[in-house]
Amino acid sequence: MARDSFIERGARSRAMALLDSGTMRELVGPFDRVTSPWLAMQHLVTQADDGVIVAKGTLAGLPTVVLAIEGAFQGGSMGEVGGAKIAGALELAAQDNRNGVPTQAVILFETGGVRLQEANLGLAAIAEIQAAIVDLRRYRPVIGVIAGTVGCYGGMSIAAGLCSYLVLTREARLGLNGPQVIEQEAGIAEFDARNRPLIWSLTGGEQRFQTHLADAYVDDDTPGIRAVLTDLFAQGVPVVHRSARHDDFLASLEQVDTTAQAVPQEVRDIYRKGLAS
Ligand code: COA
Repeated sequence: MARDSFIERGARSRAMALLDSGTMRELVGPFDRVTSPWLAMQHLVTQADDGVIVAKGTLAGLPTVVLAIEGAFQGGSMGEVGGAKIAGALELAAQDNRNGVPTQAVILFETGGVRLQEANLGLAAIAEIQAAIVDLRRYRPVIGVIAGTVGCYGGMSIAAGLCSYLVLTREARLGLNGPQVIEQEAGIAEFDARNRPLIWSLTGGEQRFQTHLADAYVDDDTPGIRAVLTDLFAQGVPVVHRSARHDDFLASLEQVDTTAQAVPQEVRDIYRKGLAS
């Protein structure tokens, strides 16, 4: 009962818990009523913040913007408005740095990727988010957190891969294609989307950490996650970003036997060897 779960919090509560007490200011908040025009046209209920919270404040005294995605709204999927909120906030943070204010960023990923109802507009927004991460991470770290329960998929998994540091819990999932999509496209023999132990053994937080796709593996504990973020920010910009190690990752990937169902331990061994240095 003493545990302060991060996963059980909504996106706004997560952002507030990470920032120094009393410093959070929300930009383009629910009262601005910037909602998706596309969902209403498809007779779907919109949400006043389009499922994305942009929170500005300080973390351990340093200027920080937290972009928190609300997994409970449309699976945290990225549409035109929510995507633009994240990209715009990251672009402003980069501009801050160029103006001498060293602003850093945290992205709380909880997303099924591009919002299927907004198709190409969602894809374009995700591309802008990716470009903005690459711009900002030159000055100050951009740290991604995947806590659960939705996980992080589609183009947003690429955005997570571009972050300076990535923090995962045991409950996190990370993958380019979601389980439902793999099953639909390749068949249930390839991947059974109802087999949750299989999903977590191959794409869960522990496996992704063990295969060097994340930098920290943390408990579902709000103060603990805040402390890890503070430590990672203190390390500054990484000398080599994970995304610059694509050759090492591809060399490891080539060794995975794709003719049979992957075995989690074997995958770990291959990646550990290939990315040890
Ligand atoms: N766009 C719109 N809605 C999405 C979405 C997306 N990209 N991803 C998830 N959702 C919605 C689901 O339709 C569902 O809505 P409902 O509650 O109205 O039925 C809700 O989010 C929760 O998803 P669900 O599949 O029930 O939850 P889950 O925990 O079993 O699985 C995912 C979550 C994200 C793993 C699964 O939805 C998935 O595999 N999505 C596809 C991910 C993907 O490949 N994205 C790339 C898109 S190009």
